[in-house]
Amino acid sequence: MGRAHEPNDMEVTMSTLSFDGKVAVITGAGGGLGRQHALLLAKRGALVVVNDLGGSVDGTGSSESAAQKVVDEIKAAGGEAVANYDSVATPEGGEAIVKTAIDTFGRIDIVINNAGILRDKTFHNMTSDLLNPVIDVHLKGAFNVTRPAWIHMREQGYGRIVSTSSAAGVFGNFGQTNYGAAKMGLVGFTRVLAVEGAKYNIKANAIAPLALTRMTEDIMGPLGDKLAPELVSPIAAWLAHEDCDVSGEVYSVGGGRVARVFIAETQGYYKSDLSMEDIRDNWKKIRSEDGYFVPSNIGEETAYYMNVFKNA
Ligand code: NAI
Repeated sequence: MGRAHEPNDMEVTMSTLSFDGKVAVITGAGGGLGRQHALLLAKRGALVVVNDLGGSVDGTGSSESAAQKVVDEIKAAGGEAVANYDSVATPEGGEAIVKTAIDTFGRIDIVINNAGILRDKTFHNMTSDLLNPVIDVHLKGAFNVTRPAWIHMREQGYGRIVSTSSAAGVFGNFGQTNYGAAKMGLVGFTRVLAVEGAKYNIKANAIAPLALTRMTEDIMGPLGDKLAPELVSPIAAWLAHEDCDVSGEVYSVGGGRVARVFIAETQGYYKSDLSMEDIRDNWKKIRSEDGYFVPSNIGEETAYYMNVFKNA
């Protein structure tokens, strides 16, 4: 085995991705994954708004210390950041978070929707006080922060939105109807933003992370040792970067593995006078994954229908 190739300074300069001059808002960045995203972006030159309400995992309480600590860490490492303690769960909070970016740094280029809480309960015990705050923080929170940022991004013809979904919604998980619905809602949010943002060079993508944080420490078991939260940040940062040109996509990430998750459609079955029995008798074909396709928006799916009708 030869020695590993050590890059020289020139190679490092040419290959390193930077965020110089870019302004990023990262919600829920006082701990866990958001803190790691903030540290990475700031290290690569971004001017960062570290937002965090500073409450507990179930969303109760608040404290300014979480966000401030991360700002202090960034500054100590030579980066630039400002703290914001507003809640993403209200439109006023979202406005104030974006205003912090504009007032402090003069622009906004990146939003990472990361703030989150948990209120797990099996569905038959799910009540509105378990449902509403979870929808408010994860799903409405992304609307509340992204919308005021979007106005600026649209005007400047540039923006990157990264939202935090979850395998709990994309694939399903016991006891998380509230959280799963909010997280899958963020996939729809992301896909529509991708369509609307296309002509303004605004790209929107989502991640479904797996990491050991205070949110997951009770459930990870021995797998937790492999799941350092800093191993999630490279994909969040890449999706927030100018060079990344995908939009409307979802990436699963954890412990150093990253993979694309996509919504696909099977070839299906067509008959102009379709009946219930036709469906029963062709169930296997309808469900078969052979030759599936991956529409990137509703237009592509509709074009597929047109094609089926034309060739019938
Ligand atoms: P965490 O609890 O360490 O981080 C969440 C942060 O959001 C906390 O610092 C919290 O104070 C903040 N926050 C909560 N409500 C807020 C509000 N209304 N306004 C502003 N900030 C608020 O947990 P973790 O794991 O870092 O979670 C980050 C995101 O990743 C969440 O959206 C979570 O649902 C998601 N996620 C995490 C997974 C994991 O394996 N850790 C798995 C799938 C998704």
